[in-house]
Formats: sequence, C-alpha cells, structure tokens
Amino acid sequence: MERELALEFVRVTEAAAIQAGRLMGRGDKNGADKLAVDAMRAMLDTVDIRGTVVIGEGEMDEAPMLYIGEEIGGGNGEPVDIAVDPLEGTNLVSKGLPGAIAVMAVAPRGHLLHAPDMYMEKIVTGPAGRGAISLDAPIEDNLRALAKRLEKPVEDLTAVILDRERHQELIRRIRETGARIRLISDGDVSPALAACVPDSGIDLLVGSGGAPEGVIAAAAVKCLGGEMQARLLPEDAAQEQRVRDMGVSDPRQLLKLDDLVKGDDVLYVATAITDNDLLDGVHYGPQFCATHSVVMRSLTGTVRFVRADHQLNRKWPEGRPVTQLRRKN
Ligand code: FBP
Repeated sequence: MERELALEFVRVTEAAAIQAGRLMGRGDKNGADKLAVDAMRAMLDTVDIRGTVVIGEGEMDEAPMLYIGEEIGGGNGEPVDIAVDPLEGTNLVSKGLPGAIAVMAVAPRGHLLHAPDMYMEKIVTGPAGRGAISLDAPIEDNLRALAKRLEKPVEDLTAVILDRERHQELIRRIRETGARIRLISDGDVSPALAACVPDSGIDLLVGSGGAPEGVIAAAAVKCLGGEMQARLLPEDAAQEQRVRDMGVSDPRQLLKLDDLVKGDDVLYVATAITDNDLLDGVHYGPQFCATHSVVMRSLTGTVRFVRADHQLNRKWPEGRPVTQLRRKN
C-alpha cells in the first residue's frame, strides 16, 4: 500500500475522535457513536482508495453506513480491506473514562480476517514474548514463560483483563501466581497495543472480548512485532456457520497472528478520544482542539505519534495552538 495512505487515514480517525469527544461523560453512548461514524464515513470519502469495509458497524441491514461490504473511497486507488471502529469503548466515552479511541486498520484486499460479531479469546504480548506464550497453555505457564523472557519475576508482570464475570476463574488463577492485574471496564484494543510496547507498564492482555476488536488489535500487534493468538467463540450453530462462511473451516481453530492479518503490509491508525496509556484524549481549546494519534505501518515498522491542532473557528486571530499551551512532549 502507498505509504501516503497512512497519514490520510490519521485525518479519518482524528475526525471521528473530535466529534465523539464532544459527548464525553454525557451518558449518551449511541449519540457519541453516531457522531464518530458520520465523521469517519465522510472523511473516508476523501481518501483515494478502493476500500471495502470488512469489519464495521454491522451488517448492511443493521447499519446505515460503514456496514460490512460497503465500498469506500474515491474508487481510483488500490483495492484494500478496511476494518473500522469509529468509537471503540462507547461506555468509556459515555462515562468520561480513559481508554476510548477512534481506530481503523487497512490491508490489501483479502488480508484481514472478516471476523463476525462474536466473542474471541485473545492473548497478546510484545516482541519479547514471541514463541513463549500459547493460548492452549495454562495461564500459569504463560506467565512463567513471559517472566523468563522479560527477565523479571512473575510478581512484576502486569496483565490486562476485561472485568467480566466470565473472567473470574482466569483472574483468580493469575492472582495466585502473584502477577499484577489491571482490570478494565471496556476497550481491549489499546491495551493490546500497549502490551507490545516495552515500557508501557503492560506485559500481557488475556481474556475474551469482541472478535472485530481482536482483528483490529492484531493489526497493531503486527506493526509492533508482538505476539497474538486468538480463538473465535461461536455460541450456537448459526454463529458456527458464520465462521465457516468466512473461510475458517474449524470454528474453534487456534488463530495465529497471520491468520488474523495476512502478510506484511497493514496499517493501524488510532486517535484517542479519552486518555490511554500512550495517547492523550481530545482536548478542546477556545479556537483549536488538539488530538493525539498513533499511525503504524508494518511494512517498515514505522510508528508515528501525531499531535495535531484543529482550527475550530476560521475567524481565530491570535489563538495559540492548545498543544503548545499544554504539556509534556
Ligand atoms: P463498544 O462496542 O461499546 O465500543 O465496546 C467495546 C468492547 O469493550 C471491546 O473493546 C471489547 O472487546 C468488547 O467490547 C467486550 O465485550 P463485552 O462488553 O460484551 O464483554
């Protein structure tokens, strides 16, 4: 894929984040989601690609836009698969909690698993853990193997898990090893990425979450050279059939990173709506709003952090960009 596309897509996730962020903490997750979807869809039309949405807002009859199978873009560029989540973490935005992002992954046609809307069991760790962990191994063995690779005691590992009833046994077993746990209420894409970044404070993501989010996370993991394994969790015969229809003959098959995202050419782009481990959430100033995004390309391994100030009112005379007024790096 053309490398210029990476920066084009940042504009897309920025637009979704800016809109969704407006409703932070307002208790309106559907309203925030709609704003993000509308903004992302409109901005995607400005990108010169022949894109097909393979992971999106649902089936054609459930979603007015960004539905699975929707054709996107100017129609001239290269044919690509697009996985989008305009608002990953609707509850997080609605409650004003950290961890919400606008996110997308793009790969050449046929390279992203067309994961249906069901649960997926996931295990993710960074480059140091490659070949050391397995979804089929007991969690205790995975933690011990990872600790060895990271050259630190199991007690110093941090695992991220969605705080769900279905994870109680897993949580108990991890606690028994002495490892630390960060329970999250929603949004398992950003922590998967953080697990691949050595100094993020997160070593592992485990547990089950959305399958579409799993494929998007896999794009990030591939860009960062991390390790991910997954297994779809169809709950009935109809869901099993859906898995077969998308080309996975055994619905319970262990999916390796290359099964989730084929090849070496994938882009991952995310803009924070609320703060997360690596990015600052959207900040609205008097004349500008500031966004913080990450864009990664697996082909080259480039990871770019993009801070941008977006002019809100074209009449601004001397307003200083809020990014400069704020903080840090
Ligand atoms: P939203 O669809 O509301 O944005 O939720 C996203 C999410 O928290 C994912 O990050 C996660 O994979 C999944 O939902 C978990 O599903 P559940 O809430 O059913 O456990």
